[in-house]
Amino acid sequence: MASFVATQRARAAAFGKSFRLTQTMFGARSVTTRATSYTLNTGAKIPALGFGTFQDPDSQEDTVSLALRKGMRLIDTARVYNVEEQVGKGIKKSGIPREEIFLGTKLWCNDYHPDDVERAVDDSLRDLDTPYVDLVLMHYPCTFKRGPDRFPRDAEGRMIAGKTDFVQTWKSMEEVVKTGKVKAIGVSNFSKGEIETLLQKTSTVPAVHQMEVHPYLQQKTFNEWLKSQGIHVVQFSPLGNMNDFYRQTGWSKEIAHMMRVIDQPILKEIGEKYGKSPVQVVLAWGINSGRSVIPKSVVDWQIEQNLEADFELQPEDMAQIATLDAQARFNDPSLDYEWRLYSDLEGIDGTMSGRTH
Ligand SMILES: NC(=O)c1ccc[n+]([C@@H]2O[C@H](COP(=O)([O-])OP(=O)(O)OC[C@H]3O[C@@H](n4cnc5c(N)ncnc54)[C@H](OP(=O)(O)O)[C@@H]3O)[C@@H](O)[C@H]2O)c1
Repeated sequence: MASFVATQRARAAAFGKSFRLTQTMFGARSVTTRATSYTLNTGAKIPALGFGTFQDPDSQEDTVSLALRKGMRLIDTARVYNVEEQVGKGIKKSGIPREEIFLGTKLWCNDYHPDDVERAVDDSLRDLDTPYVDLVLMHYPCTFKRGPDRFPRDAEGRMIAGKTDFVQTWKSMEEVVKTGKVKAIGVSNFSKGEIETLLQKTSTVPAVHQMEVHPYLQQKTFNEWLKSQGIHVVQFSPLGNMNDFYRQTGWSKEIAHMMRVIDQPILKEIGEKYGKSPVQVVLAWGINSGRSVIPKSVVDWQIEQNLEADFELQPEDMAQIATLDAQARFNDPSLDYEWRLYSDLEGIDGTMSGRTH
């Protein structure tokens, strides 16, 4: 056992990983629960395993606190989730020092005008009750009309676009980094072409792209390209079609009722080899692919289970999971936001015409 740990430590050191070092023997196999982290293009470390905070605002203070006390060190939130105050309180309640936590939030589309960006960051910092955040993402590439209304619509209910483009917004975000209020900037829900535009027209390579990735939407080529550019991927909806929100809004179209990713028999079989659940296998697949994952849960036992999801999967198991790719994108608000999102990426069939909801 000791030599196994030593080998794993050496291997982890080579990949910049660290261990939480919980070890369980499962059958003939010893499963080590790790605490992997990656180095961003800024030099900062980001944990592999994180915590999403979209929805359930009344539970977020307690669940953020619980997750941190149990060992989670990456918290993902967003202005538009309306939970920043609760997240801030949860961080305080946990007693974990702020500097031990990687905290990221997102700028919403009504605050993309260059004169609004720093004020919007200040609003987030005030509600999160913190002097800085580790990461601010541009939530989507599309811009909505400036002003307090987060979803500005015309008389017919159609979203009113803003006049700013994402390149201008990005340049303002670059300025906010200089103030020290934001340690790194990144994007979310961008296409490859939109990221290329940023690379051509600005001087900061995004530190992170947060996007939908799970076994049904693996985006292998895009992920490889992002890696080649030094852009770290954070997988949102890492469990696939678990969150009912995307079915209710119609954002997941006719694929909404596919079998849940975590009910795939292959995942159960793989899990049995390691003494892990299909949920843990799905999260481990993301981490073993070099990405961070940010599952959301407000249920104590689920949070605890998710925390035990960083373990090494054997290459043959990674290969099995690769066969589940269905190019199935569940979170696509293109029609509502009046912006063809993900235009050069996989999984947009069926959303080219007609309203999603
Ligand atoms: N950048 C973006 O545009 C964007 C878009 C979507 C999401 N996100 C971020 O990504 C996070 C996660 O995304 P998501 O909520 O769409 O999907 P998800 O985390 O893949 O799925 C969440 C669902 O899975 C359930 N769940 C979590 N852990 C479980 C476990 N161990 N066993 C069984 N069920 C479990 C949760 O249940 P309970 O809720 O009942 O606990 C919830 O219904 C969000 O909270 C947000 O921070 C970002």
